[in-house]
Amino acid sequence: MIVDVLTVQETLEAAPELAAVYLSAFGAPGYDEDAARAEEFRSEQLPLHSERDGFKFVAARSDHRIIGFGYGFTGQRGQWWSDRIAESAPAEIVEEWIGGHFEIVSLAVAVDEQGRGVGAALHDVLMADLPHGKALLTTWVDDRPAPRLYRRKGWQVLVPDLGWGSALYGLSLR
Ligand SMILES: CC(C)(COP(=O)(O)OP(=O)(O)OC[C@H]1O[C@@H](n2cnc3c(N)ncnc32)[C@H](O)[C@@H]1OP(=O)(O)O)[C@@H](O)C(=O)NCCC(=O)NCCS
Repeated sequence: MIVDVLTVQETLEAAPELAAVYLSAFGAPGYDEDAARAEEFRSEQLPLHSERDGFKFVAARSDHRIIGFGYGFTGQRGQWWSDRIAESAPAEIVEEWIGGHFEIVSLAVAVDEQGRGVGAALHDVLMADLPHGKALLTTWVDDRPAPRLYRRKGWQVLVPDLGWGSALYGLSLR
């Protein structure tokens, strides 16, 4: 298994393959996203996010097939996610953490490839050498592989429950 950083062009060219990984990971029972959401990821979310400052995309390949990916960008107030978090998190967290952070948007491993360290490897390449001072993400409040992975990697829980089943996690990069 190899993890590479993709350019924007490589990311967009791989979008159909990435959407299949997305559907495998997020379509699994307990996540329950559907093909229409994977198509929206391919045709709307990825092109929009790939234009953001600080966009970084990593993909894991095995036998030349993409089996997992992760990506993020520089988060700023005025963007949907940052503004939504700012409305729900305590003022001191908003002040200290939101704006200019690296925001992990998505981490996904095809369901039949999970449990072998691919997610951990994607995380490490995604977070390596970032110029940002801090990073943020939201993940589930309940006990699942994703929150366990982030906590293992040193992320701290900033807000245990934002009110819609998600917790806010932060990582200082200084
Ligand atoms: C979260 C996700 C990306 C993790 O990917 P993964 O490749 O399974 O991650 P890892 O293999 O690094 O870690 C998963 C588990 O396998 C274990 N593991 C890793 N390598 C292992 C090995 N060689 N032998 C045995 N177990 C191993 C880890 O310890 C971890 O165990 P835990 O969940 O009990 O803590 C994946 O589960 C996924 O795509 N989930 C659905 C989408 C999602 O939740 N995305 C995150 C959004 S916030």
